[in-house]
Amino acid sequence: MFTPVIMAGGSGTRLWPLSRGNFPKQFLPLTGRHTMLQQTLLRLSGLQHSTPLLICNEDHRFIAAEQIRQLGNGKADILLEPAGRNTAPAIALAALRAKQQGHAEAVLLVLAADHVINNTPAFQQAVEQALPLAQGGQLVTFGIVPSSAETGYGYIKRGEKSGNAYRVDSFIEKPDLSTAEFYLQSGEYYWNSGMFMFRADIYLQQLQKFRPDIYAACEAAMTEQVADLEFVRVNKTAFEACPSDSIDYAVMEKTEHAVAVPLDAGWNDVGGFAALWQVSAKDTDGNVLCGDVLALDSENSYVRSDDKLVAAIGVKDLVVISTKDAVLVAHKDQAQQVKQIVNQLAQMG
Ligand code: GDD
Ligand code: MG
Repeated sequence: MFTPVIMAGGSGTRLWPLSRGNFPKQFLPLTGRHTMLQQTLLRLSGLQHSTPLLICNEDHRFIAAEQIRQLGNGKADILLEPAGRNTAPAIALAALRAKQQGHAEAVLLVLAADHVINNTPAFQQAVEQALPLAQGGQLVTFGIVPSSAETGYGYIKRGEKSGNAYRVDSFIEKPDLSTAEFYLQSGEYYWNSGMFMFRADIYLQQLQKFRPDIYAACEAAMTEQVADLEFVRVNKTAFEACPSDSIDYAVMEKTEHAVAVPLDAGWNDVGGFAALWQVSAKDTDGNVLCGDVLALDSENSYVRSDDKLVAAIGVKDLVVISTKDAVLVAHKDQAQQVKQIVNQLAQMG
């Protein structure tokens, strides 16, 4: 038995203008009928688990609640953050909640709300392999065989093999390009998938050891939580005073209790339009056409329209996104740079 903890507080800026501040990536149906959040919940179906806990920004509470309701018998508790403080604090809130409820040793399966996983049985099998390791006090990460020198991921150096898992020799979050190339070529590293499994008490103990400041702020925020309709709100002042950091830097790079369970399940974190194109169903010319879209003599492009008719002629490797109030036209290989556009827009107010 374990508790799924779904982190849904990210902003997804690399998929602008599809993903917006008030409606980020995890709440969008990017690869099918269900939204990324809904797919994350559905992927657990058949596993023995308790009610999932969703952690998101308070601005998105009604979107999150509605998407859970749409799943019919889907159920999840929702914990609200007044501001994003990255994943180390978000997970601390989940672990402290388990402790407050008298389940300090509860095993948490921490999931990102915005990943694609094609092979659900393989994912579930990895979760089942991780469970006894987590129960035994290890911090389990799920390792993906890397296919490129991606600098936006964490890297896990495999240590000794034990059963289906490997001891983590070292964990390096977001290395620079030359380091990532070295890791890729060595064949000794996994990508960190950004999903974890561990006991609440073990995570809290490690956090308290390495980041007592984050631990203390989250404890204060949870001590003064309030229930509001179906939501749990943490104390705003206490949580806003919490330093911002990811679990990867705050705990995983430092702990000596990490193990990696390999995951080969068609995982993709859809970190930008090139990845979204890659994971989507394509026509015979390699195009992904979504909505009211026509394409002639076009190849390997991602064209999507939310409202008006969009026609493309003779385009190759382009991303064209038309929404009610913004249009993006980008080369697929440079679409990561939309982040810079989003930053410029933020500066303009
Ligand atoms: N509740 C909450 N609050 N959720 C958050 C917050 C927050 O402040 N910040 C991020 N999240 C959620 C995001 O929505 C996403 O589902 C997940 O936590 C991971 O955050 P990202 O911001 O997407 O992390 P990343 O992609 O830079 O890096 C992580 O994932 C990689 C794989 O996709 C790391 O774990 C890397 O090591 C890993 O390789
Ligand atoms: Mg991510």
